[in-house]
Amino acid sequence: MSRLRLLLLGLFLPFSLSAIVERVVDLPGLEYDFVVIGGGTAGNVIANRLTENAKFSVLVLEAGGSNEGILNVTIPLRCPTLTPNTPFDWNFTTVPQPGLNGRQISYARGHILGGSSSVNFMGYTRGSSADYDRYATITGDPGWSWKRIFPYILKNERWTAPADNHNTTGQFNPAVHGYNGVNSVSLAGFSRPIDRRVIQTTRELPEFLSILILTRDTSSDSAIHNPQFATYRSRKNLHVLLHAQVARVLQTGNSHGRLSFKTVEFTEGKGGRTVQVRAKKEIVLSAGSIGTPHILLNSGIGDKTALAQVGIKPLVHLPSVGQNLSDHPVVGDQWLVNAGPTDTFEALGRNETYAAEQLELWTTKRSGTLAAGTYNTVGWHRLPENA
Ligand SMILES: Cc1cc2nc3c(=O)[nH]c(=O)nc-3n(C[C@H](O)[C@H](O)[C@H](O)COP(=O)(O)OP(=O)(O)OC[C@H]3O[C@@H](n4cnc5c(N)ncnc54)[C@H](O)[C@@H]3O)c2cc1C
Ligand SMILES: *[C@@H]1O[C@H](CO)[C@@H](O)[C@H](O)[C@H]1NC(C)=O
Ligand SMILES: *[C@@H]1O[C@H](CO)[C@@H](O)[C@H](O)[C@H]1NC(C)=O
Ligand SMILES: *[C@@H]1O[C@H](CO)[C@@H](O)[C@H](O)[C@H]1NC(C)=O
Ligand SMILES: *[C@@H]1O[C@H](CO)[C@@H](O)[C@H](O)[C@H]1NC(C)=O
Ligand SMILES: *[C@@H]1O[C@H](CO)[C@@H](O)[C@H](O)[C@H]1NC(C)=O
Repeated sequence: MSRLRLLLLGLFLPFSLSAIVERVVDLPGLEYDFVVIGGGTAGNVIANRLTENAKFSVLVLEAGGSNEGILNVTIPLRCPTLTPNTPFDWNFTTVPQPGLNGRQISYARGHILGGSSSVNFMGYTRGSSADYDRYATITGDPGWSWKRIFPYILKNERWTAPADNHNTTGQFNPAVHGYNGVNSVSLAGFSRPIDRRVIQTTRELPEFLSILILTRDTSSDSAIHNPQFATYRSRKNLHVLLHAQVARVLQTGNSHGRLSFKTVEFTEGKGGRTVQVRAKKEIVLSAGSIGTPHILLNSGIGDKTALAQVGIKPLVHLPSVGQNLSDHPVVGDQWLVNAGPTDTFEALGRNETYAAEQLELWTTKRSGTLAAGTYNTVGWHRLPENA
């Protein structure tokens, strides 16, 4: 639904699109209160919040292009076509992984407005309270604790009916969800015969805890496009520049050994000219878990020995920058299914009539199999310490 309304919005409010531009000459200037590097999941949320204050001017610099009007970005079940090694991907490859027998694998990251939230698989899950409390302990910042973060989780959520409008009574706990936020969240809309077996397994093996969810609601949808926030795009104090790849931030001050960085250097378009833009207040670095440390390192912020070795003048010695990324593994189990009674998504790939019907259903009603997500149940369970 929110996508449908969004398309209408685009048709009727063309002026509201003016904040998103592709060329530097279409920007009002090269000085803003805040410059947000990376128009991805986090960057757009921050830009949205900052521009609530009409006194602040904000520029978002995004390396990728627009996420509008790209059918496969819009159709939830098509998310597997978006990565890896597509026009929407940064096309990263890992170094050889000891845990994978030395293999190197693709490491997808969204190169598009909305960032990885425009290409991800839309599973909405929240960490356990213990996870957040652990972040608080590791960072020494109690703001990360479950108690402190939970109100913001509620504030962000907009609990929405599932795509098939089924009765969700008993399927979620209303007390722990939010209803007026910017991010639409719903239970999976299309149950599959296998779901019941998964749930049954969780009853028989209660250490598996299963939870929710889905629908494509990228951060640029919720923050920039969501009709609830239509004003966001028309805010005169916000500009988003696409195809702007940031190389580094430049040191602009030094007060008693505290360096400040308020200039951002980026290229306009692929291999284009170098442009500098200034932040009067702050630069917000939100280029993701790969992009952010990359920019820091290019700027001389990192391990001083390693930087000097590659010819970058070290400015701030922070040996942890670019180190110790860990991510969750995903292992796909695949098996053959029969054509009829198993009722899996495979029919889309082998029955063109059915596929065309489903596309029509999605295009006209935002419903049917294509509105479904790629997974219906998620289990989180702790490995033993010695695993
Ligand atoms: C294929 C895939 C499936 C996933 N599935 C799920 C899921 O089902 N559920 C879930 O919760 N999470 C999922 N994730 C993870 C989730 O999408 C990410 O953790 C989250 O989007 C990261 O947000 P971010 O703001 O840190 O980075 P991003 O959203 O990636 O934003 C970074 C932005 O910065 C831009 N950028 C980077 N470098 C530069 C530069 N030098 N100059 C200018 N711009 C730059 C990028 O183009 C991007 O737009 C998935 C991720 C992927 C890739
Ligand atoms: C979109 O997805 C469809 C169906 O999976 C695929 O055939 C098509 O090539 C994709 N289009 C693009 C532009 O990737
Ligand atoms: C990633 O690879 C695809 C396919 O080759 C290409 O179209 C795209 O431009 C590449 N992405 C980047 C950021 O270079
Ligand atoms: C939904 O299901 C619950 C419990 O199964 C039932 O009490 C309720 O009447 C149902 N609501 C609707 C609108 O059918
Ligand atoms: C990062 O990884 C290195 C090498 O594996 C390790 O020695 C170090 O303790 C790790 N640091 C953190 C903060 O986890
Ligand atoms: C293909 O899909 C159509 C439309 O849903 C259906 O009528 C037909 O029986 C399907 N064909 C096969 C071989 O399953």
